[in-house]
Amino acid sequence: MKITSSSEHVLIEDEQIGLGAVAPGEFSIPFKVMVVEPCDTFAADLHIIWGELGSSKPSEDLLEVRVLAQRADIDWRRYKYINPYAEAPAQGGRFIGRREQVHTLVSRILQTPMEPTYIDGQKRVGKTSLAQTAADEAMRNDPFRKLHKLYILWGNIAAEDSRTTIKNLGSEVERFILGALPDSGGFEPGVYDGTLAPLVKLSQNVHGLDQERRFVIILDEFDDIAQDLYLQGNLAETFFANIRALTATPNICLLLVGGENMPYVMDRQGQKLNRFSRVNLTYFSRAAEWEDFERLVRQPSEGVLEWHLDAISEVFNYSSGNPYFAKAVCKEVMTRAVSERDADITAEEVRAAINARISTFESNQFAHLWQDGIYSPMEEREVVALKRRRTLAAIARCLRAGEEPTLESIWSQRGATQLTKAELGSLLGDMVARDVLSEMGGVYDLKLPIFRLWLMGVGLSRVANDRLGEELASIDQQLEDDAQVLPEEIVSLTSGWPPYRGTLVGPERVRAWLSQRQTNREQRLLFTLLKAVRVVSVEENLQRLRTAGQVLREQLGVPTRKKLTDRREDVVVTYVDGEGKSGQRYASDFAEENKIARTAILPPLLVREGFSRIQPKGCRAP
Ligand SMILES: Nc1ncnc2c1ncn2[C@@H]1O[C@H](COP(=O)(O)OP(=O)(O)O)[C@@H](O)[C@H]1O
Ligand SMILES: [Mg+2]
Repeated sequence: MKITSSSEHVLIEDEQIGLGAVAPGEFSIPFKVMVVEPCDTFAADLHIIWGELGSSKPSEDLLEVRVLAQRADIDWRRYKYINPYAEAPAQGGRFIGRREQVHTLVSRILQTPMEPTYIDGQKRVGKTSLAQTAADEAMRNDPFRKLHKLYILWGNIAAEDSRTTIKNLGSEVERFILGALPDSGGFEPGVYDGTLAPLVKLSQNVHGLDQERRFVIILDEFDDIAQDLYLQGNLAETFFANIRALTATPNICLLLVGGENMPYVMDRQGQKLNRFSRVNLTYFSRAAEWEDFERLVRQPSEGVLEWHLDAISEVFNYSSGNPYFAKAVCKEVMTRAVSERDADITAEEVRAAINARISTFESNQFAHLWQDGIYSPMEEREVVALKRRRTLAAIARCLRAGEEPTLESIWSQRGATQLTKAELGSLLGDMVARDVLSEMGGVYDLKLPIFRLWLMGVGLSRVANDRLGEELASIDQQLEDDAQVLPEEIVSLTSGWPPYRGTLVGPERVRAWLSQRQTNREQRLLFTLLKAVRVVSVEENLQRLRTAGQVLREQLGVPTRKKLTDRREDVVVTYVDGEGKSGQRYASDFAEENKIARTAILPPLLVREGFSRIQPKGCRAP
């Protein structure tokens, strides 16, 4: 492969690169280019010559390439500490897409009577962001400009005792309503002793004063409410009767927001909540919301990073359109881009970022996948969550071993867990229904690829390492789990390697090589060997061949060449091993570097004959 450029701005270090054998499929070749003078672009010609197995004629191709510089005006230092891919709920201009849901919510808030809604969906799909954005949007569109918003995170008012929780909630809402009035002097403070009834009264009074003034109240993480507020008992009855009464007032609109336990809470009090309409939020859909997803990735780093389509597609592949994990990946991509001053983002950068980030995810970032959506009272949830964790651990072991996770193989990887097969089947079915797993033709898989990657790496020992871990993991299993070679270990090893015969040897090649052994512990041994291997660059190799030639010439005292352009023919170079193997290539490199004629390279079988051809008097054949 030969690259030439007529540009005066750049200097190509190695114009010619020999690739050796190339396997079918895509491959890339790095060229080192020194920029002598700043320029936006330069053109180069690539001349490729190759031979194919089974054909003696070489093929060739000439390609023109244009290399474009990235923008020069990026203020990289600014982004060293500020990462625009924040994990906080997105509001204002940072909220992207979900137009249909926003529209539904805004019209339910603005219409008369106001229509209460509950928003549910997996944790981290954007419920809080949606509720806030919709309420803000409604305020902007309120013709009277008299719509007020209150956001309450359940954890901020929750107390150990539910009566106190109700008191906190009542006072907080009261303060908000009074605070919104131009003159709140005439109102007595309500007594919220186990009831929210004074709020109903207050809202009626306020409505009497000003019919255009309205309130939207977001109760976030509502499914965290204590059991005695919804399961049974007087307090629960009162609380939900109050909520129902509040939604019947013309000037208060409630938005209840909750995760996968929301349906369970709503079911217990279904009758009282039948006025509520539901908005269910899922991951971004590739088919229907692709453009929004593109903006989700691109917008925060606009003007800095140049995202190629394949990169965005890769972010989607790993996150399945989950906005939280998509942003987490983008955040890492951005951090790396800033430290490398590389604004050009392709799928390669995305994969590198994921590999580097994956084992720094904490269990709690995935915990909702096994903890949420358990439709039973609190005290029973722990047990179910534990069983789900073990099921996930067994699936991860199947995947690590390269087995398809069917019911059979998951069962055989369950370790010391006491699960019946029927129980395992129902746990799997439940996780399929919740979209945590997918199932096709009896083969299960994890729906979220980034979760799969995590679970197969560091996640397994964290998920399997529970209270009853001793029972679960025999020591052997533990050792095996811990020996796993992690993606970032491979990345950090290969990132220091120079190109080998023109191509970079990346993590995939190493992983493929490791997988020649079945168990993690054997792979760990291979990896230890690999870490001790020193990879020598082509330049270093050639340098050594020149030095070797020098040493030989000095030892043998051979006469120097008469002219610089002369190629010596008074030596014979040979090699061990057969033709077409590395020995032959080194012999040819040696000849090239030491200005020896190609005809002086002889295959092992012809050495004797060749030697006698040039044999001076008094010298014996080897
Ligand atoms: N439509 C969206 N536009 C931009 N970011 C979003 C969107 N939806 C979710 N996110 C991001 O996803 C993450 C989780 O969102 P959040 O609203 O906190 O989810 P939930 O309340 O469902 O747990 C946050 O980092 C948020 O910025
Ligand atoms: Mg939230």
